[in-house]
Amino acid sequence: MSHTETIWDALAPKPKIAASETDPPKQWYDVDNILLAEPVIIEYLAAHTASPADSRLLDFGCGDGQFTSRLHELGYKAEGIDPSPSMIAAAQDKYSETLPFTIGGFESLPNEATYDSITAVMVMQFIPDVKPVMQRLAAALKPGGSLVVAAFNPEFISDWIRTGNPDYVGFDSVDNPTEGTLLFGPVEVPVYVRTAAQYIELAAEDGLSLALEAYPPFSDAFLEQYPVDGPVEHAEHMILAFQKAGLHDD
Ligand SMILES: C[S@@+](CC[C@H](N)C(=O)[O-])C[C@H]1O[C@@H](n2cnc3c(N)ncnc32)[C@H](O)[C@@H]1O
Repeated sequence: MSHTETIWDALAPKPKIAASETDPPKQWYDVDNILLAEPVIIEYLAAHTASPADSRLLDFGCGDGQFTSRLHELGYKAEGIDPSPSMIAAAQDKYSETLPFTIGGFESLPNEATYDSITAVMVMQFIPDVKPVMQRLAAALKPGGSLVVAAFNPEFISDWIRTGNPDYVGFDSVDNPTEGTLLFGPVEVPVYVRTAAQYIELAAEDGLSLALEAYPPFSDAFLEQYPVDGPVEHAEHMILAFQKAGLHDD
């Protein structure tokens, strides 16, 4: 099957040409998901998973597979899916011996209840129409299963637009942004900002109820090690965990 290149291919990590090549020092945006968002998701999953080894987990929009691999290390039966062939190539390059990764979007997901948990870390905000995606993710969850979404906190985006950050361009509003463009170097990425209420309403239509709403703040320790070149009063991440009604729920 052939796969179409996506905008994210340009942002996938490139394989090292020489073994001696060293990585550049990490910046705040290299570690923000790992140090700020992922611990909250991991804690939620741990509290809602009786036995990780028996728990089938899908990391939707897995990118280069870093979080998928972390979940595998924590004992989950984890797998990753992402529409970007280059992201999946990077994930396979690093982790293919232990983990399954697939190129694909929501259309490739199974239409029947398959997963105990699904994570979507900083993915939904890059999808223009999330309604069919949420529907399909909900359908792929087993009864009682969890969908954990980490997306941009709208207040964080507002702050960064308000201060005129040059990488946040073309937004339709400062106070209530819904659409704009993020510049990752030369790569222009359309971004769709949604409130917690919008996600909660969509999830409810698919039988998912809110179990957690969290905004992990920038900690002093994080800021000391990874200075951020913009406002940090509001959390970057909005984490929403949803639970699908169980077999025995009324
Ligand atoms: C910011 S990266 C996050 C990657 C990973 N979840 C992480 O936390 O490191 C966004 C990812 O979303 C994926 N993505 C973009 N549009 C998507 C879509 N319509 N369906 C699924 N994934 C998508 C991209 O290919 C990219 O890998």
